[in-house]
Amino acid sequence: MGWVGRCRDLGGLIFVDLRDRYGVTQIIFNPASDASMAEIASRLKVETVIAVEGRVDARPDDMVNTDMHTGELEVNAIKLHVLNESKTLPFLIRDDIDASDELRLKYRYLDLRRPEMQKNMMIRHRTAQTVRCFFDSEAFIEIETPALMKSTPEGARDYLVPSRIHKGRFYALPQSPQTYKQLLMVAGYDRYFQIVKCFRDEDLRADRQPEFTQIDIEMSFISETDIMDTVERLMLRIFDDVLGVALKAPFRKISYDESMARYGVDRPDLRFGMEIQDVNDLVAGSGFKVFDSTVENGGRVRGLKLEGAAPLSRKKVDILTDAVKPNGAKGLVVIQVKEEGIVSPIAKFISPELLESICKRFNAVEGDVVFLVADEEAICCASLGFLRNYLANEYSLLDDKAYSLCWVTDFPLLDYDENEKRYVAMHHPFTQPRAEDIEKLTTDPGAVRARAYDLVLNGCEIAGGSIRNFQRDVQSRMFDVLGIDRETAEKKFGFLLEALECGAPPHGGIAFGLDRLVMFLTGEKSIREVIAFPKTTSALSLMDMAPSEVDTRQLIELGLKLNDNKVKSIE
Ligand code: AMO
Ligand code: AMP
Repeated sequence: MGWVGRCRDLGGLIFVDLRDRYGVTQIIFNPASDASMAEIASRLKVETVIAVEGRVDARPDDMVNTDMHTGELEVNAIKLHVLNESKTLPFLIRDDIDASDELRLKYRYLDLRRPEMQKNMMIRHRTAQTVRCFFDSEAFIEIETPALMKSTPEGARDYLVPSRIHKGRFYALPQSPQTYKQLLMVAGYDRYFQIVKCFRDEDLRADRQPEFTQIDIEMSFISETDIMDTVERLMLRIFDDVLGVALKAPFRKISYDESMARYGVDRPDLRFGMEIQDVNDLVAGSGFKVFDSTVENGGRVRGLKLEGAAPLSRKKVDILTDAVKPNGAKGLVVIQVKEEGIVSPIAKFISPELLESICKRFNAVEGDVVFLVADEEAICCASLGFLRNYLANEYSLLDDKAYSLCWVTDFPLLDYDENEKRYVAMHHPFTQPRAEDIEKLTTDPGAVRARAYDLVLNGCEIAGGSIRNFQRDVQSRMFDVLGIDRETAEKKFGFLLEALECGAPPHGGIAFGLDRLVMFLTGEKSIREVIAFPKTTSALSLMDMAPSEVDTRQLIELGLKLNDNKVKSIE
């Protein structure tokens, strides 16, 4: 039984490809044995659901199809039952379709019928099963936490659910089960994991969905090393089980500062080099006002080298200069090492010796191009970090089959929010400051390091976690630094603060983005391709058109009234 794929009439014999989850089987209808059945078979529309009874035969030697899993056999039909005829579908059920993303999402159940999507769903299933087996074998237990909860701040907006019984009050859908898993540690379940849905109302991108799945982990009586070791064993197991790929552990560890200096980002793609270099020492007093004023004002002049790209056309240089501007860079100095010598628009401002020593810093040889940005440190990082990835893409330096994993550690605990004029937690407010930095919480909050770590795969953050504050006073001090007054802290997190006073063990954990991990395992470019029913970048479900309006009666029951001016149709 299955779906009608291709149908062909070859010299009177009708060949039908019957497709289901397990593959394709060739069915032959022979008019000589049953003319009316063959007649019905010849008129079968694709994607009709049929049942066939027949004889399974080996194909004649010259008909064997080695490209097909079942290419050595065929079924000679004896009976045909048409179970449900299909109408003409909006796109063909095969991998090389040119249907738009919108159409694929609207008819997601048809899109999911395609072999490629079925393979993605299988890989997701296999990954989840491997995760469960792994944690079970390591004495973790899976515990479900509520989906209707009080909001925990993870930096995004909450999805709110109005309460009917307690009018005017709202549940929040979890941005993550962070507080619950910490409470489970207080409860003594020292090894917890969960594959769990999380909800965040934030701007969406290729690797972000409003609802996504975490592999959530928490452990007691541990340090960073225990979490990292466990996660590395898990990753080795997943890559082996799912892809048959042997990863090497331990993964490289890079501090946040080193990552920012060498790669410009806190999630470096280590599949290629092109490291950022600092040339402040060389260019100070160069005579070129852009460099000199940058150095005088405490900024940095940094750059990177692209090998074998010279000569670059004028147009290409303009494109690259425009590409770095959205990241704050005011310009891009391009130095090309050509056959005739070093060529650069700044050659007229600086000495040939300086130009040469800059090239030397980058070990640039003929054919190489050096790009420099002069600005405050953060802008140098952002623009060169962006340029590095941009060039790697443009010049095909990325190996799709390579998996480069690293830990980024020693994150700052806090980030200064210019808009809100206060510090916000870089990871989340429950992260522990490093013991040696605790005193700086009041004197120099920006310099406090966190006991936090991210796992990065090919330039994408696939997991993040930390060691938590397990003593009430440290957690309270953290709320103070974040500008959350005692009363608000009590109201929002009183339950957690009290739990920390009831014998809370030292604990820490991490959470993976399961969708992101599966995106890499399937080789897809967007997590949409590994989620059965994803939403669009404007958080719509095109299939059932959620979110939708609701009956006035439902609103009345909830004690809600819409402000008519604010109601906009999403048509
Ligand atoms: P964090 O906020 O870093 O940590 O989230 C953990 C991982 O979840 C994935 N992720 C997402 N995936 C898809 N769509 C999204 N909108 C999205 N947001 C996050 C990322 C990320 O690394 N409670 C902490 C974990 C902890 O401290 O243990 C947390 O949620 O891959
Ligand atoms: P100008 O003197 O403004 O004509 O700039 C000379 C060259 O320096 C041009 O190629 C600019 O793109 C480049 N440039 C200007 N400002 C910066 C900067 N902050 N960082 C890097 N390059 C810059």
